[in-house]
Amino acid sequence: MDKDVRAAFEAAKGFMPLDEGTALHAAAKEAAAGLGLPLLEVGTYCGRSTLLLAEAAASAGTVVVTVDHHRGSEEQQPGWEYHDPELVDPVTGRMDTLPHFRRTLHAAGLEDHVIAVVGRSPQVAKVWRQPLGLVFVDGGHTDEHASADYEGWAPLLAEGGLLVIHDVIPDPADGGQAPYRIYRRALASGAFTEVSATRTLRVLRRGGGPFDRPGAEAGGHGK
Ligand SMILES: C[S@@+](CC[C@H](N)C(=O)[O-])C[C@H]1O[C@@H](n2cnc3c(N)ncnc32)[C@H](O)[C@@H]1O
Repeated sequence: MDKDVRAAFEAAKGFMPLDEGTALHAAAKEAAAGLGLPLLEVGTYCGRSTLLLAEAAASAGTVVVTVDHHRGSEEQQPGWEYHDPELVDPVTGRMDTLPHFRRTLHAAGLEDHVIAVVGRSPQVAKVWRQPLGLVFVDGGHTDEHASADYEGWAPLLAEGGLLVIHDVIPDPADGGQAPYRIYRRALASGAFTEVSATRTLRVLRRGGGPFDRPGAEAGGHGK
């Protein structure tokens, strides 16, 4: 990872530790160079992970599309564990991470390599038709949101593309299980094989077989 990108990553608000960021960056580099297709992120927040994808996309002449409604996930709302009062818009009184995201990208000099979509992930996925080289799922961490992200975006991955899932936590004593459940579901579908595991970040590769459709998945939502 370029030292300026690393410095921007460390300066940005966010939750991803450096070892996971390094693994995400390596996956993005490989996908961008190998397929030359856009990289898709669900869960922009303040851009900490986006700039890793952006640097990889820029080096291969492609772009990142990053999707977020910028109103924060459940656990980021006032009174919850991951709330940051600096991210509340004083006019609306609601979370607004969009200006912080724009500052992160500007500071890293990567604005030209990112298309930011402000919207709800399932609605955006419904109108998106381009094949993707990488899908990074780091949006809402409820079963409803994680499942919708998987169902909306994973089928758009090109053969050989990478599905990266954050916050995969096998032991319920350590945290929420929704990302873990979509990770298990992807493997059970037969459409993906695991490439790497770094702390809670999992990288899976899309094979050439059939893709599971909602309601027809092998393994369902269980373990
Ligand atoms: C954990 S944060 C993302 C962190 C970011 N990837 C990073 O590493 O810095 C989750 C983000 O997902 C967004 N989000 C949650 N549910 C969403 C949905 N259904 N559609 C779009 N964005 C969503 C939230 O607004 C929040 O900014």
